[in-house]
Parts: sequence; C-alpha cells; structure tokens
Amino acid sequence: MAQRPKVGDKAYHLLLAPGDVPRYILLPGDPGRVPLIAKHWTEAREVARNREFVTWVGSYKGVAVGATSTGIGSGSTAIAVEELLYAGADTFIRVGTTGALQREIRLGDLIIGTAAVRFDGASRWYAPPEYPAVAHWLVVKALVEAAESLGVRYHVGVVASTDSFYVGQERPGYGGFMPPWSRGLIDALRSLRVLSFEMESATIFTLASIYGARAGGVYATIANRETDEFKPEVGVEEAVKVANEAVKILAEYDRKSGADP
Ligand code: URA
Repeated sequence: MAQRPKVGDKAYHLLLAPGDVPRYILLPGDPGRVPLIAKHWTEAREVARNREFVTWVGSYKGVAVGATSTGIGSGSTAIAVEELLYAGADTFIRVGTTGALQREIRLGDLIIGTAAVRFDGASRWYAPPEYPAVAHWLVVKALVEAAESLGVRYHVGVVASTDSFYVGQERPGYGGFMPPWSRGLIDALRSLRVLSFEMESATIFTLASIYGARAGGVYATIANRETDEFKPEVGVEEAVKVANEAVKILAEYDRKSGADP
C-alpha cells in the first residue's frame, strides 16, 4: 500500500506530528477565526501553519483543546480531518457560518447540526451516497447544553453541505449563470425541513463516523435565503463560545464515563 506523505513525522499539509494536538478540536473554516476561538483559552499558542491550515492548542477551563482551520469546502476539510486524527484528535466540533433556509431562523441565531445532506465531493470517495453524515449524539448533547447554559437562541436539525457557495446554494454564478439542477434547490430542501446551507459538515461527520471519531457542528446564521438577508459575522462570537463550552461539557461526560484517556 502507498505511504501517506509526511515531512519527517509531520503530516504533509497540516504539519502536525502524533501527539501535537489534544483529543478535542474545534474546526473553523477561516484561519482568522482560530485566534478568535483561542482568545477564550489560557495558554493558547500556535503549533503549525501551512496554506489554509492554522492550528493552535491551549486550555479551556482546564481542558486541553485545539483549533484548526479547514479552509472552505470538502477537499481541504477531508485533509484536515485525516491529518488531525493522525496527530491525536478524536472529537471535532465545526464552528462555522450558515445560510438559513427556514423563515423563522433569524440572523445571529445558532444552528446545531444533527446531520448533513451530503452535497459535498470528498465524502463520496469514502462511502456510498446512502451512508449518512450524522453528528455524534454526545457532541450534539454537549452543544445543546452549552447553548442552553449561555442563553443563546438556537435551532437543532439537519443542514446541507455543498462544495459550491454560489450555484450549489442556488445563488447566481457570474453573469447570472444558473444550471437547471440548481433551480428549485432551496424550495426542495426547505420542504425536507433542512435548516440551512454550509460547506464542511458532511465531510467532517462522514469521516468521523467511518473512523470511530466523534463530530458535531455549531453555526452562526449570517444569511437567510427566504428573507434574502445577509450580515457577515453576526452570531460568530456566540458560536465560538458555545463550541468552547461544549468541549468542557464533553470532557466532563468523558471523565464520568471513563472514556478519558
Ligand atoms: N455559509 C454558507 O455556506 N452559505 C451561506 O449562505 C452563509 C454561510
């Protein structure tokens, strides 16, 4: 079998070696969000930086935690999950932004994903389309508990992950381009009670299930596709707080159940 490419003992893209990260890892898409997540930690420090992948580790309320940016979409996200597992992670929380499909979801509200429609590309290389992209129930429970304790507005349900922000989310491409298969996509997903669009969770959830790891996601609603509103960054700070707090809650569950290494 072919070897996985490495630089010394470091994974080729993330530049992380075994033991470089703790088990709990937050996954923003944007490298600029990693320090925003880490500002809530003590002992925060950058351990690796390459391309879109920036990794910091630290401690949140006494729990060792890390954050790695995945970049946008499934290709770079699958690389991040693969190489973080190699480096020692086993629990992933995506911290992202999302575009709501349901009218009642307001800008700034949080969404906690229970599963993701697999409109990504990378997860198709791992499992047939019938294989579900589901969040781990304990991660969902921890995120809900964290959202409750912080008193933020949140919704829980299925999201849809696409590799295309424009036509893949029924937004016009350049010059108004809209392929026939994108027309009516929003209506179809809304009728299936899908809560929102985002771009990475299907990949993270699918890979985590296959590898026996755990994953979940919390997203700030920055767009509503029914009301046609868009406000960048609204709710992001709340999503970051909920994700960090969920790590503390998960560590408590793990300690109590003896799953703490
Ligand atoms: N992220 C997405 O993928 N879509 C949106 O509309 C907003 C954030």
